[in-house]
Amino acid sequence: MKYYIKTFGCQMNVHESEKLAGMLESLNYTKTDKINDASIIVFNTCCIRDGVEQKILGNIGQIKKIKKANKDLIVAICGCMAQADGRSELIYKKFPFVDIIFGTHNIHLFKEFIINFKRNHKKISDIWKEANGIYENIEISRDNLYSNAWVNINFGCNNFCSYCIVPYVRGRERSRNYQEIVNEVEALVKQGYKYITLLGQNVNSYGNDFEDKSINFSFLLKKICEIKGDFKIKFMTSHPKDLSEDVIKTIASNDKICKVIHLPIQSGSNKILRLMNRKYTKEHYLTLIDLIRKYIPDAYISTDIIVGFPGETEEDFMETYNLVNQVKYDGVFAFMFSKRSGTVAEKMENQIDEETKKTRIHKLLELTKSITKQKNENSIGKTFNVIAIEKSEKGFLTMSDSGKTIIVNDELEINKFYNVEITKFAYNKLFGKLVN
Ligand code: 5AD
Ligand code: SF4
Repeated sequence: MKYYIKTFGCQMNVHESEKLAGMLESLNYTKTDKINDASIIVFNTCCIRDGVEQKILGNIGQIKKIKKANKDLIVAICGCMAQADGRSELIYKKFPFVDIIFGTHNIHLFKEFIINFKRNHKKISDIWKEANGIYENIEISRDNLYSNAWVNINFGCNNFCSYCIVPYVRGRERSRNYQEIVNEVEALVKQGYKYITLLGQNVNSYGNDFEDKSINFSFLLKKICEIKGDFKIKFMTSHPKDLSEDVIKTIASNDKICKVIHLPIQSGSNKILRLMNRKYTKEHYLTLIDLIRKYIPDAYISTDIIVGFPGETEEDFMETYNLVNQVKYDGVFAFMFSKRSGTVAEKMENQIDEETKKTRIHKLLELTKSITKQKNENSIGKTFNVIAIEKSEKGFLTMSDSGKTIIVNDELEINKFYNVEITKFAYNKLFGKLVN
C-alpha cells in the first residue's frame, strides 16, 4: 500500500501534508514519488489565486486515466481549495472519480475517512463551516528537507485584507498553547533538526486570543531560545501592523534566531493600502524597516507585493516601485491581483486589465532582479553562517539562513553549521570559503 501526496501552496500546506503523510503511515501506507504506483492519491490544495486553482483542476483531471487502470485506487482532495465556497461540489461534479473530499478544519479525521471508505466504499464529502479549536497529537512524517522542521504556532487569520481568501478558508485566529510548542521544538532539536520554522498566517499576533497578555510572540521566541542545542529559529509570516519593536529587539539579541524577516508590504501607495484593508501606512512600514536595520544591520528582508489591485493607477504603482527601490529588499515575491470570490476586492470598481498587470509586474521584476544582482556582488567578502546540505560535483552546497545557496570547496560535514566568506559571484551562483 503506497501513498502519493501532491501539495499546492504555502508552507502551511507543506506542513499539513506531513501530517497527512503521518496519518497514512500509521495505517501502514508507505510513500511513493510515482503517482502511478500509488494505492491512494492525495491532493492538498490551495486557492490563493485563480491560476493555482486552474492548475489543480487540470491535475485532478489527469488522475482519471490512473483510476481507470486501477479501480482500487483511492483519490482524496483536501486543503484550502476544497474548503472554499462551492469548490467541493464543483470537484465532485467535474471529477466523479474523486472518493474523499475534506477541508482545512478537519484534517485530523483523515484516518477515519480512509478506514470508513475502505469499509463501505461510499464517497465522503466533509467540509466543516468553522474551525473548532486546535488538534494536537496528530502523527507527523516530516520531510526533513535541509534539516528544517515546521512548527505551527497559530492558525487562521482575523485580518480580512480585502483581496485575500485565507480568512474564509482557514477560519479565525487560534494560538497554540506555548508549552505544547516548546515541547515540540525540544523534541525536534533532540532528533537533530537544525532549523525550526515557526508557522502562522500572522506570527506577530501570536497570543492575541489568550487571556494572559504576557504570552505573545516575543515571549514565545525567548522561551524557544532557552532550549539547549545547536539549532536556529525562523518564522513566517510577519504583519507590519503587528510587528513590534520588542519583537525586533528579541530577534536582534538572540543568536539562535535567524536574522531573516519576511514583511509583506503589498503596495507602496497609502490609497491602495487603505483599499486593501492593511491597517498601516507606507510611512509606518518604513519606520519598521528603519527599526529593523537599526537593531539588525545585516537583516535579510523580503516582501510580498500585489500589482494591479483594483483602482491602482500608474502613480500608485510607481509608489510601490519606488518603495522597492528605496528598501532594496533581499527578496521580492510579486503577484498579479487575482479576484477571489467572496472577498471585498472582488466587487470593487476599477478592476485593472491583465495586460496592465503584466506590464507592471514585469517592470517590478526587472528592478528586483537588478537589486538582487547588485546585492550578490556586494556580498563578496562578507561572512555568512551556513549549513552544509549536499556534496555535489562543484563542491559542497551550503545554505545560508535566508536560503541562499553558496558553493564551498572545503571538506564539510553534512548538517553542520559553518562560517563561510563569499569569494565570488559568477553565473548567478555564489562561491565561498570556510573561515574559522
Ligand atoms: N491576488 C494576488 N495575490 C494575492 N495574495 C493573497 N491574495 C491574493 C490575491 N487575491 C498574495 C499576497 C500574500 C501572498 C501570500 O499572496 O501578496 O502576501
Ligand atoms: Fe490574507 Fe491578510 Fe490574513 Fe495575510 S494577513 S492571510 S494577506 S487576510
